[in-house]
Formats: sequence, C-alpha cells, structure tokens
Amino acid sequence: MHPAGLFITFEGIDGAGKSTHIAALADAFRAAGRSVALTREPGGTPLAEKLRELVLNDAMDPLSEALLMFAARRDHLQQVIEPALAWGEVVLCDRFTDATFAYQGSGRGFDLEVLRQLERWVQGQPGTDALRQPDLTVWFDLPPAVAAQRLASARVPDRFESQPQAFFERVAAGYAQRMEGAPERFARIASDQPKAEVWQQVRQAFEQRGWLQPTEARA
Ligand code: TMP
Repeated sequence: MHPAGLFITFEGIDGAGKSTHIAALADAFRAAGRSVALTREPGGTPLAEKLRELVLNDAMDPLSEALLMFAARRDHLQQVIEPALAWGEVVLCDRFTDATFAYQGSGRGFDLEVLRQLERWVQGQPGTDALRQPDLTVWFDLPPAVAAQRLASARVPDRFESQPQAFFERVAAGYAQRMEGAPERFARIASDQPKAEVWQQVRQAFEQRGWLQPTEARA
C-alpha cells in the first residue's frame, strides 16, 4: 500500500518568488519519506515543453494561447500528473489552470466561459462528473508594484513578463477571484515579506493539513 497521491499547485504573478519555496517543499516531503514529482506548466513533458516555447515567445491571439495552454496541460496530465498520483507521489506543479484563468482570462480579457469549457474537457475524470483539481493551490500573493521591481533586474523577459503593471493588476485580481470560487482549495501566502517568513507561511499551510510534521523553521 502506498499513500494517497497529493496534487499541489503554485501560483502567483511573475516575480512572486515561488521557485525557492517549491524546491524547499520538495526537500521537506522527501525528508518525510515521500516520492516527489517536481513539474511545471506550461511544460512537464517533451510535447508540452515544445508548446511552452511557442506560447512564451511567438505572437498569437488569445484563443490560440488558451488552446495551447490546455493542449500542453492535457498531455502533462495524461503523461505525468495522473500516473504520479496513481503511484502515491506528491506532485508539486509550478502553475496549473488557475494561471490560465488569471492570465488568459483576467489578464488578456478572454472569455471565462470558454475557459471553463476547456477546463471540463481537459480535466474531466472518466466515468464521473468530477474534474481533476489540485488538493491545494499555494498562491503567492505579491503586490504587482513589488513584483515589477523584482522583474526589472531579471533576465530577458518573455511575452508575459514584459507586460505592463496594469496587466499584472488584472492577473492578481483573477487569482483572487479563483480563490473566492474555491476558498478551501487555496492557501494565500502574503509574499511581500522576507523569504524566511514566506517559507514559514508555506510550511504552515502543509502542517495544518497534516501533510508535513511541524519542525524548526528554515528558509
Ligand atoms: P513561469 O515563468 O512561472 O514558468 O510561467 C510561464 C508564464 O506562462 C508565466 O508568465 C505565466 C504564463 N502562463 C499563462 O499565461 N497561462 C497558463 O495557463 C500558464 C500555466 C502559464
């Protein structure tokens, strides 16, 4: 018997600082004896990584962008996420469908009803009405003005990172709206704080759910 799989996703506007905390969580779960699948969207499979290159770099209309995100997601779910969950692994996924609602929906202004339909097609579970959804979504909530400062010193920006602050204001509002629709699925992390304090909040979200044992804080 293996433990039940856990599907955890991480969200936030560009520059919100997810990466180091995802890596620290992977270490914490491994230290607790769990198998961890560390993955990301768009991406996570050879096909989805090719789609990532296109969607981050090539100009396209919002419907094409949304379709490519969901095409990549479908492959990722079938090839990586569902098998890993079936094996009882902890799947730590850097972004998932909330990003499509926040970026393509709220950011670009694309029709949310079309996105909901795509979500049903792509995440539908065979033989039931249920959708595959994360067990927990960790949302790194950072004011867009702070994220903009962090991004200014970053590498060459892609099609999303190069958007103006007003775009990220809409994306952040989109995340807030997704959380309102399913509050029990989200842990909102106040991310405008020193890294060690952000990590404390992240760790606590997992301890509260009984998924990690309380330990000394670490960054
Ligand atoms: P990353 O840089 O955090 O890996 O994310 C890649 C970019 O893709 C990021 O700017 C957010 C964007 N994105 C969307 O616009 N829609 C989506 O569905 C996903 C998963 C990411």
